[in-house]
Amino acid sequence: VTARRLTGDASAELATITWRAGRVRLLDQRALPAKMRYLDCATVDDLIEAIQSLAVRGAPALGAAGAYGVALAAHTLRTKPQVRAAARKLARARPTAVNLATGVALAFEAYESGGAAGALAAAQQLALDAIARNRALGAHGAPLLPVSASVLTHCNTGALACVGYGTALGVIRAAAESGRDPHVWVDETRPLLQGARLTMFELERLGIDATLIPDSAAASLMAAGEVDLVILGADRIAINGDVANKVGTYSLAVLARHHGLPFYVAAPTSTIDPDTPNGAAIAIEERDPDEVRAFGGKPVAPEGASVRNPAFDVTPAHLVTAIITEVGIARRPYARSLPSHLKRAGALYSPG
Ligand code: MRU
Repeated sequence: VTARRLTGDASAELATITWRAGRVRLLDQRALPAKMRYLDCATVDDLIEAIQSLAVRGAPALGAAGAYGVALAAHTLRTKPQVRAAARKLARARPTAVNLATGVALAFEAYESGGAAGALAAAQQLALDAIARNRALGAHGAPLLPVSASVLTHCNTGALACVGYGTALGVIRAAAESGRDPHVWVDETRPLLQGARLTMFELERLGIDATLIPDSAAASLMAAGEVDLVILGADRIAINGDVANKVGTYSLAVLARHHGLPFYVAAPTSTIDPDTPNGAAIAIEERDPDEVRAFGGKPVAPEGASVRNPAFDVTPAHLVTAIITEVGIARRPYARSLPSHLKRAGALYSPG
């Protein structure tokens, strides 16, 4: 295995979320891949709208959004109770990814001791740490991929979801950078197509070989021996190792077990929630039924059809082969390995 430079346009890292002239600037993920458009949020309400409509999304990016949101509140609101109320609202904008609430709490604490400048410095540090964690995680995970592996992934876990570099996509990227030449099966990820729109966009830019599939094709590809392993991200990992991630993750875990394939979760320790004992305690976001009644803005079901639209599901720990974090590879029993990863990471990175 020899190191190689990726052939795509990876030199230009995607600026997922930045602070610019007193505003939070987002690369608007709703417009991708058709348009690279930026969205400047001038108020906390603008940012909450952007979070709920998925202009910014993915657990680590939501952590940065929460922290920058507190900085924005501190810069735009006059009193501490107003900033506190804005922080509470931000933390509740989406319920499943623990990073959002943690990012808010971290920046609010910095605001209490250091004012608006303190909150901004904490947000900037959290964003830098998020990228550093992902690079470390990628380096730990890359050797798990055999040379020329066919890897199946779900949703989007690249720089767009993570401030920079990526979690599961970071592992794939690190494998490609070290010459392992992976091929990626990309689940389209119904109903909002994060795989088709965002993961395909990122892999193309990176020059990594990728093939888009309907979510429902995973089983037959596995049965045909065309998948070597599954790797994806997480929105919240309970301390017993149960994993909440984009809906469809659980079915992939069951399929992987049936076909004897490794099922890896890649996530920074900031996604492990020591206060969540197990998957049953994770709040699963239910989204607008119209996201299922329509496809690409076009109705595909009778108007008003009854719909259930959970955005995430929980994969039980016993189906997870390993959890790759920035400090190494955690294996079962997770109730033992995850606290140890949290402790080791705590000594190296800021808590967000
Ligand atoms: O609804 P989304 O697009 O925010 O869901 C994102 C996911 O489920 C990702 O897989 C998860 O946040 C991991 S991101 C590295």
